[in-house]
Amino acid sequence: MTIAWQLGLFSTYHDFSLIVNSSMSIKNISVIGAGTMGNGIAHVFAQNGYDVTLVDVGQQALDRAIATITANLGRQVKKGAITEDDQKNTLAHIKTETQLATSVKAADFVIEAATERYDLKKEIFQTLDNNAREGVILASNTSSISVTELAATTKRASHVIGMHFFNPVPVMKLVEIIRGLATTDEVYSTVKALSEKVGKTPVEVNDAPGFVSNRILMPMINEAIYTLMEGVAKAEDIDTVMKLGMAHPMGPLQLADFIGLDVCLAIMNVLHDGLGDSKYRACPLLKKMVAAGMLGKKSGRGFYKY
Ligand code: CAA
Repeated sequence: MTIAWQLGLFSTYHDFSLIVNSSMSIKNISVIGAGTMGNGIAHVFAQNGYDVTLVDVGQQALDRAIATITANLGRQVKKGAITEDDQKNTLAHIKTETQLATSVKAADFVIEAATERYDLKKEIFQTLDNNAREGVILASNTSSISVTELAATTKRASHVIGMHFFNPVPVMKLVEIIRGLATTDEVYSTVKALSEKVGKTPVEVNDAPGFVSNRILMPMINEAIYTLMEGVAKAEDIDTVMKLGMAHPMGPLQLADFIGLDVCLAIMNVLHDGLGDSKYRACPLLKKMVAAGMLGKKSGRGFYKY
């Protein structure tokens, strides 16, 4: 099989895509992965009237996700941003599934938000490709994995795209849309329109390590960790400098704890491998903390205790 074929440059789906790939025709959305990003994405689509199928391997993870969405909607009710009826309607738009293959058969659009591991995403994309209807767009919420490489694992590379949301998804306005090498203009326009329909501001980015967001954010976090490791200042003081001096809503070390130190390390490794410049080497303290299981908020201990 030639590389061009793998990349879908000779895709036969082009004509059909004109029918399926209009944001107007999208009603059923499958969200794969019920973690922090997956439940936030499901929340936002459901709140905007889409029928969402939230998919994960275990019912426990799905139940946790529904509880989180319910609580986050409750926050919005308390603030007067939405009514209790809106909360009920949003929840009524979400169903859960544990079987990936069958759950995407009726999807008009699929977004994957599984753990940030290439081997896992590759397997998911192959299952999606084999089970979603022809012409349906397969998006990934990946924060650093190459969209072009993910696309090449399917037979519809022209219909694979990055749709990168930010945490907390209901609050953060940005969607970074990453075009793989073979992503068509129609597919890009559909995802752009879909992002706007759910109240987000899309930004177009080409496929490159870390895209724009993590190409800039992660080296800043990594530098903050070096600053801590070298004893320049205490964690709280490093964060205070960035909060009060630069008007960041959260300091870089607290943000690293929220993102997960394992995720930060994985992204630094993608930047280092992909760009080959030693300035992207992960800080030894970051590596040590990940090895020790100090992964941030989710493990109860990172730069701070939770
Ligand atoms: N769902 C719904 N609403 C939420 C929410 C959630 N999960 N979390 C917070 N909110 C709402 C609150 O109800 C509140 O609403 P109002 O403005 O209407 O009052 C608002 O968001 C602000 O929340 P809080 O008052 O509780 O707290 P805050 O002022 O400290 O803001 C924050 C919280 C928005 C998270 C803020 O601290 C912040 O902007 N932090 C930085 C977030 C960030 O950088 N995210 C990007 C991470 S990187 C990433 O996601 C991608 C990657 O690839 C690594």
